[in-house]
Amino acid sequence: MEFSKVIHARHSTRSFSERPVTRELLEEILLEAGAAPSWINTQEWRVYVATGAVLEKIRKEYVERASYGIQGSSDFPVTRRTSWSPQAQANMSRLMQRAADLNVSKEWDESENALFHAPAAVYLTLPKDANKWAIMDMGGFEQTLLLSATNKGVDSITAYSMVKYPDVIRKYLNVPENYAVAIGIALGYASDSKINTFRSERMTLNQFAKFSE
Ligand SMILES: Cc1cc2nc3c(=O)[nH]c(=O)nc-3n(C[C@H](O)[C@H](O)[C@H](O)COP(=O)(O)O)c2cc1C
Repeated sequence: MEFSKVIHARHSTRSFSERPVTRELLEEILLEAGAAPSWINTQEWRVYVATGAVLEKIRKEYVERASYGIQGSSDFPVTRRTSWSPQAQANMSRLMQRAADLNVSKEWDESENALFHAPAAVYLTLPKDANKWAIMDMGGFEQTLLLSATNKGVDSITAYSMVKYPDVIRKYLNVPENYAVAIGIALGYASDSKINTFRSERMTLNQFAKFSE
């Protein structure tokens, strides 16, 4: 795919079909993600991939915990809405209002609690004492992974909700205690669910960029 088409084709998919992603494709995507730059080439990220029976065990525990209303407790702490900038708060409100208008909020919650029904999940981890540069590097790895997946026709979402119960991920994927389960990426192929028609908006260039005179 032409590169700018890849950039614009990537979007968050929130309901996946049962069609699996092959091991070969997953390896290709991870290898391309690994081409991301990092501080003096540190490449601090460590990646755990869950598919098949292991992913189903993780999913079952996530669904159960959500059904009991158990609050998330991610390794990267969640920032209160009011601690974000006014513009960021307005963007969040707008997203939620548009989801409500499309009448997909309920399905969104249900699918999210079930890891979006994805057939593959990639978890990005970092040492718990990693510095901010390593987190920035991991973001580059994450976005390269998403773009690589899009280019190969694989749909995706990167989501906090995938890592809200890190003890479950740690247990089934043997992530060491001194590593933070930072973010999860669901991979697969979009289902024909209505939730997948939802698209987020973007700020205008003037809202986020300033050029010198
Ligand atoms: C760090 C991070 C965490 C996210 N967590 C969630 C999540 O828990 N649930 C969800 O539905 N979307 C989540 N998203 C997806 C964002 O809502 C989405 O990227 C944003 O609205 C832009 O839409 P797009 O990805 O379709 O372009 C997350 C995205 C990022 C980068």
